[in-house]
Amino acid sequence: MASIAVCPGSFDPVTLGHLDIITRGAKVFDKVIVAVLNNRNKQPLFTVEERMELLRETTKDLKNVEVDHFNGLLIDYVKKQNANAIIKGLRAVSDFEYELQMAAINRKLDEEVETFFMMTNNKYSYLSSSIVKEVAKYQAPVGDLVPEVVEEALRKKYAFS
Ligand code: PNS
Repeated sequence: MASIAVCPGSFDPVTLGHLDIITRGAKVFDKVIVAVLNNRNKQPLFTVEERMELLRETTKDLKNVEVDHFNGLLIDYVKKQNANAIIKGLRAVSDFEYELQMAAINRKLDEEVETFFMMTNNKYSYLSSSIVKEVAKYQAPVGDLVPEVVEEALRKKYAFS
């Protein structure tokens, strides 16, 4: 049976930290589906389509990575994709409690699906999409934090050069 993992998130926008987790995950699993949550309660900077396009562009060299989106419960989406794993990055202790709760509820909903955590590369341990947006909003450089296409997209959103 092929091992298929879903790597879920908001990806608003994708950062080098996300990319590190996706790339490493793609070495372990036969297929990784990067799934963008279409969360109607949140006011994202990028639309789902824009987030997916940025992910597609930045993962185009990873042949076993697909990009998709989902609504509702993650576990329902994982089952629909015939996936057997969820992969998540852990940056710091502060991520742990929330992720533990998520992994526990997902296991309760379906104990056949396993959650795998990867420690984020140290150099990205402080990095988040929110931090990137905060920095870009004030027109400071984000080239070390996000792929080039994302930097360009942020420039357009916040209208700076
Ligand atoms: O990048 P984020 O915003 O930290 O990603 C969070 C995400 C999308 C992984 C999480 O919010 C999620 O799985 N949402 C789907 C709803 C769900 O299944 N919740 C858990 C059971 S209540």
